[in-house]
Amino acid sequence: MPVLRCINCQSDFPTSQRIYVCPKCAGLLDVVYELNKFQGEQAVSVWDRRRASAESIDQSGVWRFRELLPETDESEIVTMIEGNTQIWDAPRSAEYAGMNRLSFKHLGMNPTGSFKDLGMTTGITQAKRLGATSVACASTGNTSASMAAYAARAGMKAFVFIPSGQIALGKLSQALDYGAVVLQLEGDFDDAMRLVREVADESPLYLLNSVNPFRLEGQKTIAFEMMQQRGWQLPDRVVVPGGNLGNSSAIAKGFHELMERGVINRMPRITIIQAEGANPLYRMWEARTETLTPVPGATTLATAIKIGNPVSWPKAMRGLRWSAGEVEQVTEQEIADAKAMIGRDGIGCEPASAVTLAGIKKMIAAGGVNPDEDVVAILTGHVLKDPDYTVNYHAGMLSCTNKSGEKMLIESRYANAFMRVHASRDAILKALDL
Ligand code: F0G
Repeated sequence: MPVLRCINCQSDFPTSQRIYVCPKCAGLLDVVYELNKFQGEQAVSVWDRRRASAESIDQSGVWRFRELLPETDESEIVTMIEGNTQIWDAPRSAEYAGMNRLSFKHLGMNPTGSFKDLGMTTGITQAKRLGATSVACASTGNTSASMAAYAARAGMKAFVFIPSGQIALGKLSQALDYGAVVLQLEGDFDDAMRLVREVADESPLYLLNSVNPFRLEGQKTIAFEMMQQRGWQLPDRVVVPGGNLGNSSAIAKGFHELMERGVINRMPRITIIQAEGANPLYRMWEARTETLTPVPGATTLATAIKIGNPVSWPKAMRGLRWSAGEVEQVTEQEIADAKAMIGRDGIGCEPASAVTLAGIKKMIAAGGVNPDEDVVAILTGHVLKDPDYTVNYHAGMLSCTNKSGEKMLIESRYANAFMRVHASRDAILKALDL
């Protein structure tokens, strides 16, 4: 039977206990599985066989790997057949970064348009197992959209805490459409996170932020699915955006579990990229300190990762240690240009996802990454999540504020501005200039 284990003091607790952090030392909790006979080639063949199955739990890119997920009665599983997201070659992006090849695994192709669905299927399923009827999260947008959808599927009430005026409209519209109660708080994500934790501790609301270890169990299957899609051939490096640091932690745990079970014999280097204005992990990494110092008033146009006090940093650091990983930061200009380039590959993504390409380009230029490396970058959210950002960039109207509060225009270096044309045949032919 899997247990909850504190990553700090190593105390064990049953998975049926409704806790989010260690009751003894407040450390983060992991779901830990027995190292049984389900290993190596046997695991690969069972998981590969399920890809051809007609059952929902086999088709889900999460539950297909259920031997390494919390034990759940099949009838309790709440799935939207998430996962199965494409890996695409991106030749223009590769050239832009100075790599010989590069591929993107696009988690924005999940049911609600972000990777959060992978964690929400396991999170909501655990909520159901514990008998919860209402769930809550703080969010920069995607978690709330995903939780709202899965809660609706499970017949639960959803409460989302979002920073006022700071989330992309696509995400807000989803939470509203899926019937969540939306609380816009005067404050930033870090305030919303602190408050939802306090409220969940004193109420029946079940907390579904990534501090909840059951969320990360779903998200770790990104590693499993990526390996399965690649015929179990390891990449050299996996590049992932860092916000609250749940996803990078989850992916590292996924690869680590595959290694413990002899499915792989080394870890790909987990490489976490942050926005310069919301870079607490990068600062910690550079200063080689033991603890993270929050960045108050974090700022970036990539609102999904506008986070100054990430909850899962100890797990992210563990993943970096396991995998000889690295951390990089990128500017608003670098993010905007990289996003436009990913668009030119016909792929597209939301701004936070584009930190991956921006980071790879920067690391190649500095000589830290070999252009021959086999790199998979994780695109975390769909291009339609934040259309304002994209349109403003192409119209030459994207601006941000720097730390001193000054407004700065982003240079639209790869703009594809639309043309205003008089509605006549002659004007159109002239404008087309064929
Ligand atoms: N990319 C996107 C599109 C996100 O929505 C998030 C996080 C991240 C990257 C960063 O992942 O937090 O696990 O390091 N969004 C959260 C939310 C915070 O509320 O939707 P992380």
